[in-house]
Amino acid sequence: MCGIVAYLGDKQAYPILVNGLHRLEYRGYDSAGVALVTAGELKVYKCQGKVAELEAHVNGQDRSGTVGIGHTRWATHGQPNDVNAHPHVSTSGDLALIHNGIIENYAAIKEELLHRGHRFRSETDTEVLVHLIDDIRSSENMDLPNAVRLALESVVGAYAIVVLDRTNPDMLVAARKSSPLVVGVGENGEHFLASDATPIVEHTRNVVYLEDGEMAVIERGKGLRVLNMRNQEKTPFVQELEMHLEALEKGGYDHFMLKEIFEQPRSIRDSMRGRLNLAQSEVVLGGIKDHEQRFVNAKRIIIVGCGTSWHAGLVGEYLFEDLARIPVEVEYASEFRYRDPIIHEEDIVLAISQSGETADTLAAIEMAKSKGATIIGICNVVGSSIARVTHAGSYTHAGPEIGVASTKAFTAQVTVLTLMALMIGQRRGTLAASRFHQLINELDSIPAKVEKVLANDAHIRYIADIYRNATNALYLGRGYTFPVALEGALKLKEISYIHAEGYPAAEMKHGPIALIDEEMPVFVIATKGASYEKVVSNIQEVKARKGKIIAIVTEGDTVVKGIADHVIEIPGAPDCLVPLLSVVPLQLISYHIAVMRGCNVDQPRNLAKSVTVE
Ligand code: G6P
Repeated sequence: MCGIVAYLGDKQAYPILVNGLHRLEYRGYDSAGVALVTAGELKVYKCQGKVAELEAHVNGQDRSGTVGIGHTRWATHGQPNDVNAHPHVSTSGDLALIHNGIIENYAAIKEELLHRGHRFRSETDTEVLVHLIDDIRSSENMDLPNAVRLALESVVGAYAIVVLDRTNPDMLVAARKSSPLVVGVGENGEHFLASDATPIVEHTRNVVYLEDGEMAVIERGKGLRVLNMRNQEKTPFVQELEMHLEALEKGGYDHFMLKEIFEQPRSIRDSMRGRLNLAQSEVVLGGIKDHEQRFVNAKRIIIVGCGTSWHAGLVGEYLFEDLARIPVEVEYASEFRYRDPIIHEEDIVLAISQSGETADTLAAIEMAKSKGATIIGICNVVGSSIARVTHAGSYTHAGPEIGVASTKAFTAQVTVLTLMALMIGQRRGTLAASRFHQLINELDSIPAKVEKVLANDAHIRYIADIYRNATNALYLGRGYTFPVALEGALKLKEISYIHAEGYPAAEMKHGPIALIDEEMPVFVIATKGASYEKVVSNIQEVKARKGKIIAIVTEGDTVVKGIADHVIEIPGAPDCLVPLLSVVPLQLISYHIAVMRGCNVDQPRNLAKSVTVE
């Protein structure tokens, strides 16, 4: 969602803030702003649009000062415009505040504050916070940390906030609840605050992740204090960041998304590193070792996630049922959390999330936890909220994913799910030793096979060019590749704004077939495997209605080649590993079509990378 960055130290704050906002822009990009204290004056610059527009707006104006806050927004309450952009300023003009999250009871607080003479400028929920803090501070004659703490007591909702005070440029106060906040501890007493570590890593590797219900008070000369909402201080736990700066750069690619698609041979390999032991014929997942037995004895696995992570969960359903013979339910976290679902203590809840911050997934975890289930996380971002609230888990190790449309995170999630299902299947005795051995060797060869798929990029681009002007598209798959069809359709609609639907191939005749005409591209995953002949029949059904078929086929296939308009070959693999290969050409098709249509591939309209509001 929104991106937050703040600085207090001996350097000029503005360049650090703007650079940080560029790093955070993937979290939200409809407006941006900064606030600085310069010679006793509060300077606030903000505008609709991207960070580059903010820079143009600030150009030529006074931007000096060694303390400041910055924000890049994804609108919830109030349109993206100059006024609604953060930071928001109190009526007295003393406080500026940035916020990520939603204040649910803002209307009631606003009414009270209006009676007390505060003037509201924006339509945001955020603005109530800055007035409330200022009101408490002046009426109770309180210092800023206490005023923030007291104000937050009356707030219902989710927040990460940072407050800057014109009257005390030697202090920043921050707080979090259900929305992430990281403190960077730099040199010479300087400190950074940010909604994730990406703006911090180039300045320091030492970070403190704030827990829910914690506040950070940073004071020049005194350093960092971490307090809870009862005003009790705790010793900050300083950790070393594992992130590398190159991972945050495009590295010669035109877009992060393309870089991340091409990184997949490495990221899949990294997901398996140290976990796949071919010599001993075993899979070891250190992060879930202590809960392995519960997993092995599980009566049911419930997988929760959102977006692409939910699609990975669907692949997980096939994997666990096929290899470990455990019944699986896959749930949208947003539905699951409000459904009062039946959860038993013998259930394993697998929560999948790239960011580890998705609000609905977090809430689903908390709910399942309260009912006694064992919660296992599959997250990409190390130290993220989901990684911390789960009982155990496995990181995907895909490295930072910056493109809003998820690519390498998906294949890393599927890789980890495959490892888990193989491990549990072996322990449960549902997988014959010979099949287990064959599958782990096949899994080991997947990175090299993904390389081969990527080598076909020019051909994929050629096909993309033919369908760049489509208005609709259909994606079909069956069995293990049905979730891949959903993911292919999601990729296309996310970044090219072409309406696309994913369907189980056989289900097409119960509705979507009515849409098929000579204009309709139908992407079909028709690889050799259990459903091959049936999918070939589905292709015939499309062709009989003059639809255009673009088929993902196994190398050397001649049957589909004879019927389809275009084929994209991928190397052969067992059914359960085909998702890892077949999704790659679909990612590339979407990427190329979006670029050809002039779309902003890395920052598609209306979307955000990390959805920290429900
Ligand atoms: C957003 C992103 C998607 C992502 C989904 C779930 O909608 O745009 O790419 O799949 O959130 O995010 P998570 O971080 O939980 O995987």
